[in-house]
Amino acid sequence: MCRFVAADLHRRDRIVRLGDPRKVRRREGLRALSLGGVENLADTALAESGAQVADRLGRPLRSLRLSLIDMCNLRCNYCMPADEYIWLPREDILTVDEICRLVGLFTECGVDKVRLTGGEPLMRRELVQIVERLAANPRISDLSLTTNAVQLGRRAESLKAAGLGRVTVSLDTLRRDRFRQLTRRDQLDQVIEGIEAARRAGFEGLKINTVIMRGYNDDELIDLLEFGKRTRSEVRFIEYMDVGGATQWSMDRVVSRGEMLEKLEARYGAIERLSANGSAPADRYVLGDGTVFGVIASTTEPFCRTCDRSRVTADGLWFLCLYASSGIDLRTPLREAAPPEEIVSLIADAWAGRVDRGAEERRGLSQRGPLYQIEDLRKDPHREMHTRGG
Ligand code: GTP
Ligand code: 5AD
Ligand code: SF4
Repeated sequence: MCRFVAADLHRRDRIVRLGDPRKVRRREGLRALSLGGVENLADTALAESGAQVADRLGRPLRSLRLSLIDMCNLRCNYCMPADEYIWLPREDILTVDEICRLVGLFTECGVDKVRLTGGEPLMRRELVQIVERLAANPRISDLSLTTNAVQLGRRAESLKAAGLGRVTVSLDTLRRDRFRQLTRRDQLDQVIEGIEAARRAGFEGLKINTVIMRGYNDDELIDLLEFGKRTRSEVRFIEYMDVGGATQWSMDRVVSRGEMLEKLEARYGAIERLSANGSAPADRYVLGDGTVFGVIASTTEPFCRTCDRSRVTADGLWFLCLYASSGIDLRTPLREAAPPEEIVSLIADAWAGRVDRGAEERRGLSQRGPLYQIEDLRKDPHREMHTRGG
């Protein structure tokens, strides 16, 4: 059913295949869109085309990570080590309507996985409302949230009721002193309560993301895995990445996937690797007792070849790669009420030209250090991981 739009097609052909704007505009469904409505385009002409876009390496546009706010209530050292930050101007932050319209347009281009990120997405006041509206879009088959869970205890139930599908919690240590040292906040108990509340609210497929750093938590893999068993969550150990914001990153502090597996094998015996799942960043493994866990080796074994993800910041800049130096402004056309098909074409064209392989390029460097120094980050907050979404 889905037609892939080949990257080397002439621009006009691509637009025609997505739905010639002149013809499309004549059709009824779209009139509603031009008037500012809305996110669910399932019965419009544009949707009929069922177009899906592939980039120059044949990677489809499927997974969208949507940052709802750049602020965070923790200060994890691998992400926000500075004392002060420049936040995005409030008036630039996309409204709920703008977010839902934009996501609707992305789903016209083939996006069916949407992950809500931050900063910390639970700090966005209208989160439940956003979830409710996105959950009503039938083209989204997977709606998930990445959170530090500090505020999840009191929001898990309403998020579940609003239609959120899955939750992933960032948790790097089970020791209170270490948690305080890493995040500069004393809130480990709230995080654990948040995970339990998510379980009680009925979320299946809970995941825990743990960034492993040498000399900090590389002696906690087993404790964290056991915690995952108790809370029926799938733990994913993540290699420390040299993303924007990780100004204290060094290769010495990266614990590679191989080293993590060695530690785990020493405790649990033989570990079996499960078959790979296309574009997912995590390699999944199973212990003898059936416990499944993942390793995300973005630093030593990047998954760029199959990467179908892109990210929109809270102020509507679209980044085709986590490491991209610049993004595409989607806020301006949204606010200037550009016809939806024009924004769809803008998205499709940009994706069709995508060649990004950021993590692979970083791996190829002979001298590897932090991606940006603090002064470069101050020049543009969009370079920060907490602005781009983790
Ligand atoms: P699901 O499969 O949807 O459960 O999520 P996921 O496996 O995509 O994982 P998640 O979104 O939780 O991301 C896990 C980690 O992978 C992040 O915290 C990052 O460390 C890393 N990661 C996420 N997106 C990217 C990306 O675009 N590029 C790279 N290189 N790493 C990423
Ligand atoms: N290295 C690896 N993962 C990171 N994240 C943020 N900064 C880094 C980094 N330097 C990811 C973590 C966290 C999510 C929000 O972002 O997985 O769970
Ligand atoms: Fe930590 Fe996430 Fe907040 Fe960054 S955005 S400081 S990783 S909780």
